[in-house]
Amino acid sequence: MRWPTGLDGLCYGGDYNPEQWPESTWRDDVSLMRQARVNLVTVGVFAWSRLEPRPGQYTADWLDRLLDLLHGGGIKVALATPTASPPPWFSLAHPDALPVTADGVRLHHGSRDTYCAATPAYRDAARTIATMLAERYRDHPALAMWHVHNEYGTICHCPHTAEAFRRWLRDRYGDLAALNDAWTGAFWSQCYSDWAQVDTPRATQYLSNPTQALDFRRFWSDELLAAYLDQRDLLRRITPQVPVTTNYVLGDWVPVDHARWSREVDLVAIDHYPGETDRRAEEQTALAGDLARSWSGRRPWLLMESAPNLIHRYAEGVAYAKEPDRMLRHSIAHIARGSRGAMFFQWRASRGGAEAFHSAMVPHAGADSRTFQTTVRLGKLLERLAETDEGEVPAQVAIGWDAASGWALQHPGLPSRHIEYADEVAAAHRALWRCGILTDFVCPAAGQLDLTGYRMLVLPALYLMSDEFADELGRWVHAGGHLVVSYLSGVADQYARVRLGGYPGALRDLLGVRAEEFLPLGPGATVALTGGRSGRLWQERCATYGADPVLAYRDGPLAGAPAVTRRRVGAGTAWYLSTRLDDDAYRGLLAVAAAEARVAPVLPGAPAGVEAVRRVSGDRRWLFLFNHGSTAAEVDAWGDDLASGRPAGGPVTVEAGGVVVLREQARVRRGLRRIGRVSVIGDD
Ligand code: GLA
Repeated sequence: MRWPTGLDGLCYGGDYNPEQWPESTWRDDVSLMRQARVNLVTVGVFAWSRLEPRPGQYTADWLDRLLDLLHGGGIKVALATPTASPPPWFSLAHPDALPVTADGVRLHHGSRDTYCAATPAYRDAARTIATMLAERYRDHPALAMWHVHNEYGTICHCPHTAEAFRRWLRDRYGDLAALNDAWTGAFWSQCYSDWAQVDTPRATQYLSNPTQALDFRRFWSDELLAAYLDQRDLLRRITPQVPVTTNYVLGDWVPVDHARWSREVDLVAIDHYPGETDRRAEEQTALAGDLARSWSGRRPWLLMESAPNLIHRYAEGVAYAKEPDRMLRHSIAHIARGSRGAMFFQWRASRGGAEAFHSAMVPHAGADSRTFQTTVRLGKLLERLAETDEGEVPAQVAIGWDAASGWALQHPGLPSRHIEYADEVAAAHRALWRCGILTDFVCPAAGQLDLTGYRMLVLPALYLMSDEFADELGRWVHAGGHLVVSYLSGVADQYARVRLGGYPGALRDLLGVRAEEFLPLGPGATVALTGGRSGRLWQERCATYGADPVLAYRDGPLAGAPAVTRRRVGAGTAWYLSTRLDDDAYRGLLAVAAAEARVAPVLPGAPAGVEAVRRVSGDRRWLFLFNHGSTAAEVDAWGDDLASGRPAGGPVTVEAGGVVVLREQARVRRGLRRIGRVSVIGDD
């Protein structure tokens, strides 16, 4: 990883769109940024039409003046290439660069992200504008980082895309016989006899071919990556001293395998907008931070965008206000999990345009507002937290994350449309989060499976599994690893072809379980389990061979059959969950598995509603305490409170909605060696 050049301490700032404002406002902006201790702004993300209003006519003099002004104010710049929003003249000159939807509709300009990344004219134009910026600002002292594009994610089905897809498939399969075999072309007469017949998964009469759809997602992730690499490589060539990144957007619609991409960026940067207003917003924040850190190889990363206010619940069509303390809490929660700063969308609220009512660090009301006051508070706090940046986040538990499995599980031909991969992963993460246990993610797409340092691994719905991955898991469990696997894992090979002989295919022998039948549950349905627990979404008719039943189905067609099993394997343990346990049962089960794996919560006995995260560097430790509850909490911890600079502890009070960050003292470190007591899931 490489860091914005010339920046001390944590990054603080956000997207800044001066092209929307008169220059007199810029001067106010710099003065307010200084007041808030902003030190990094992303400039120019959507400024293409202001930089090149006509083909080849550059009008970047305003950007020259802006960069000089920011430099004068001591503010560094993450200079964006504006390629996520080509100007109208470009789309009219190159209509073949406008994206085509799966049902063949060619979109028109008038919004953003309206381009096809596989179209040569677009790729050329993107390289040209990026080169112009790199050559013009290569020596500018404000330039600290390149921010390529914005949230790669647009999908296209145009002829250029189809041609590129065919090239990608030829590389992958070599010949059509291999493709027909991998795609199970014998089903529904889909064998191809000429490459020209192969297309993207466009709208069709009934269900599409699942492997074609999966390969298209894989291909498109690679194609977008190639578009990023075009720019990265030229920027690296012209400005080798300046790190290059792009901001990831999260979501199951995103056709990007972030684990794979993370090998190619100088700094992993994510945008994060929780979509829930209740406690799940905190869970989502923790999950996003843990993913980003894991994509970054357990090293620091950067929260590139978040909302200073407002949580958009798109399904409801309402944007809810975020309490000021919550904005602080979410920002610091990302820092606790390894972010080297807190950045926002955006600095100043736009007065027009599609996102005029998106929250901003400087809202429409101006600096005399609680949002700006919070902006200032956060800036002061971040200065005091800078020392924590050297600490690692030492997780001993990992969760599997595989974008391709998530894509494969989206196919409507699966036995349930109610299984969402992201939700399966979130449920496992939530259970561990509620145990107070820190987690990383391991990603098959990141290369060779490396479980060094982990004592426990949870694999929720890891649908696609290679033999090599399964073998490596087996060796790790034999050597003492504790593995927890859920339904729909190991069921298919990399081509989404079902492994025969019983589920969960690749993992049957390791788990000592063979399921002969899936019995999905309908929406809202539950099944009673022993121990007063319940399952939902999924159930399987399992027989064990070598595994012990831990929980059994209590009613329905599977009454008496095992629902959760556990098998001793060499020095380790392998658990299998054939249904989605209710949240309390899931938490209880993972607490038991963690205790067996000798993994402790960060703060055994932390009061309800208090989240604790520890960062460690040699013998220096920092404890982050977040009170998500509505009453003040007393926490058994000692250290120097970084916000006040004063010693605190025995106990520390964390106000409702508040955050305390301690530089811990030795008394607490001894406590680290304790293993938290966890309760065992009861039998009937
Ligand atoms: C994304 C984009 C921003 C803005 C925000 C709004 O993260 O990168 O340009 O549209 O969403 O939440």
